[in-house]
Amino acid sequence: MFRTKCRSVRSVLSRKVNVNKLQEGLRARSFGRSIFFSHEVGSTNDWAEELAQCGAEQGTVAVAEAQTAGRGRLDREWFSPKGGLWFSIVLRPKLLPAQAVRLVFVASLAVAETLHEEFGLKVETKWPNDVLLNGKKMCGILLEMSTTEEKVNFVVMGVGVNANFTENVFPEELRNVASSLENELGHQVRLEDLFGRLLERLENAYELYLERGFTPILERWKEYAGFLGRKVEVADQNQKMSGLALDVDRDGALAVKLENGTIRRVLVGDVSLQMR
Ligand code: BTN
Repeated sequence: MFRTKCRSVRSVLSRKVNVNKLQEGLRARSFGRSIFFSHEVGSTNDWAEELAQCGAEQGTVAVAEAQTAGRGRLDREWFSPKGGLWFSIVLRPKLLPAQAVRLVFVASLAVAETLHEEFGLKVETKWPNDVLLNGKKMCGILLEMSTTEEKVNFVVMGVGVNANFTENVFPEELRNVASSLENELGHQVRLEDLFGRLLERLENAYELYLERGFTPILERWKEYAGFLGRKVEVADQNQKMSGLALDVDRDGALAVKLENGTIRRVLVGDVSLQMR
């Protein structure tokens, strides 16, 4: 079963779609050295996982023009029409699982810096994995990993940026909570350039994390964290609570001061901002 699956992945490897455009001007060192491109897949995270299972090297990227079964955190659907930037990177870090989960901050920092520095957008990071503009989601990150006991076999870092489509393309229920680069900038962007700049910053932030640990990543991430100091509603696995978002600590946990004055540390959950 596994062998058959790998044979089919190998045929994808040898078919090598023309990815010249994506690799043009790419200055990343290992990220993007192998790129697999498809016009349409179910989910690039699933594709990257298959590639990783079959031995793909660190930095291998699966990119698709559109996804038919794009996935978000907590098993949510991720709307992924043509015009967006949907890709997943295979990583093989020498980290413990508890350290590898913080790669979500590495990814959201790289996205926030790219959108800010390339387009001058005043983006914000929102714990744990969102990049927002004017309170609307521009990008999502889905980190998945394969572990054996305390060993990380590989990580798949999936990144989705709402790029070249306008508000009316979103399903009704997403229009108040999501936006796109085209909406905010008033024009389309060159996806190959966005992909290249993003991949470089992802690689730099990833290497910084491996070499110097979480502190420098977290410090830069907090510069974008407009939700800190604001009233939030947090849903963890068991309950919903409201309070003041105080800080994100060195484990990546969110500290919230509840209305009764107690401080709660949340490691997994979702934050929504209350109106100013
Ligand atoms: C979230 O905000 O819940 C995470 C969304 C992650 C979406 C990206 S798009 C590329 C990759 N493939 C997927 O199926 N999901 C991620």
